[in-house]
Amino acid sequence: MKEQLIDKLNNGSAVIGIIGLGYVGLPLAIRYAEVGYKVIGFDIDASKQTHIEAGKTYIKHIPDAAIQQAVAKGFEATTDFSQAAKADALILCVPTPLDNHREPDLSFIIDTTEALMPYMRKGQVVSLESTTYPGTTEEELLPRIESTGLKVGEDAFLVYSPEREDPGNPDFTTNTIPKICGGVTQDCLEVGLALYGRVIDTVVPVSSTKVAEMTKLLENIHRAVNIGLVNEMKVVADKMGIDIFEVIDAAATKPFGFVPYYPGPGLGGHCIPIDPFYLTWKAREYGINTRFIELAGEVNSNMPDYVIGKVSAGLNTHKKSINGSRILVLGIAYKKNVDDMRESPSVEIMSLLQKQGAHVAYSDPYLPTFPKMRRYSFDLQSEDLTAENLATYDCVIIATNHDDFDYELIKKNSQLVIDTRGVYRKPDKKVIKA
Ligand SMILES: NC(=O)c1ccc[n+]([C@@H]2O[C@H](COP(=O)([O-])OP(=O)(O)OC[C@H]3O[C@@H](n4cnc5c(N)ncnc54)[C@H](O)[C@@H]3O)[C@@H](O)[C@H]2O)c1
Repeated sequence: MKEQLIDKLNNGSAVIGIIGLGYVGLPLAIRYAEVGYKVIGFDIDASKQTHIEAGKTYIKHIPDAAIQQAVAKGFEATTDFSQAAKADALILCVPTPLDNHREPDLSFIIDTTEALMPYMRKGQVVSLESTTYPGTTEEELLPRIESTGLKVGEDAFLVYSPEREDPGNPDFTTNTIPKICGGVTQDCLEVGLALYGRVIDTVVPVSSTKVAEMTKLLENIHRAVNIGLVNEMKVVADKMGIDIFEVIDAAATKPFGFVPYYPGPGLGGHCIPIDPFYLTWKAREYGINTRFIELAGEVNSNMPDYVIGKVSAGLNTHKKSINGSRILVLGIAYKKNVDDMRESPSVEIMSLLQKQGAHVAYSDPYLPTFPKMRRYSFDLQSEDLTAENLATYDCVIIATNHDDFDYELIKKNSQLVIDTRGVYRKPDKKVIKA
């Protein structure tokens, strides 16, 4: 069984099923199609299928042409999970959010697995890519797959291989980012290495699915904690009249032992604000409190309030208050040059300003209309950044430093600029760093 599957994966005749065609699943599907595999994409959201069939993208940094080329090579999308029986590999790329109590919400992983179970068969490999706590693959997927009568490691194979996509980063593509892979058994690992071996330049084997799960969390916790540290340093430096960005640039000239992280208005995205708390939750089962994670979370989640404080102080120097001011937030995506606004601190800032009576507007070239969000609702369209329009606002906040913004135009024509991203390095009486 194992040899047959590895042969199919190695000779390119294997059919690859990708479940969840979002930021992670879509580029992966495109990459498998590019290499020549037949790819079936599954999603419960029918609009993904409609877009793919029409050759239209729904993720800004993935061009229409990439989808069209994949479709021309046989990439199909469907909402019909019975098609999963045709696939030799089932790669799960579904969301892993936190619930209302900030605890792991594995419902997407569990629902997907249960939807696939009736169509699982001998000779398939299942790979979980969603970020999650150590133990998920063995505690949640393994028993469900084995409940169908398949023996993992003999009839079917199960691996965990975390995604390391960095949307909007032009220096890396899906194939050039090394990929970690851990199997439930040694045979599972060997199948996993074959599954990724032709599409990813470097696949890094680890001894278990738990090690692979923990590796992904260490990477993201490392970022969350270091961003928390640098945000705290920013607040201290500001009180001392020191520009933190100049300090970071200087420290980054050290050729060893220092990695630059940059402060900002808070943490955003689907990963860094969320994933660390997957470990926090699981660690409690072992009687461990993850204090670094909690502390970084506390510092980072205070950043929107810190920005509001700077806005208030800036308006005060103009004898104005937040209440009644017209405030323009630049950038509602959580990071520059992407259209992803999940957990974006810009939105928290907009909400806090609105609660204090500000008239809030936004401009973001990646998001022409304010999208529907679970926790926030703004009936707004992106404002044009013209000299006349900028001048009408009492305050302009640079929340996300998209390259498309004309920063000279912004500074020249705004009454007051709150810069949360270190865009303006030289002191300017109009600009307040936050
Ligand atoms: N976005 C990133 O940069 C990134 C990077 C590394 C890891 N991850 C991890 O990858 C996973 C997926 O993240 P994403 O950003 O691609 O999410 P996403 O929300 O962009 O995409 C998830 C897709 O899964 C679909 N889906 C939801 N439930 C489903 C189900 N039961 N069956 C089939 N499809 C279903 C959704 O409709 C959506 O299209 C998460 O665990 C995330 O933490 C994301």
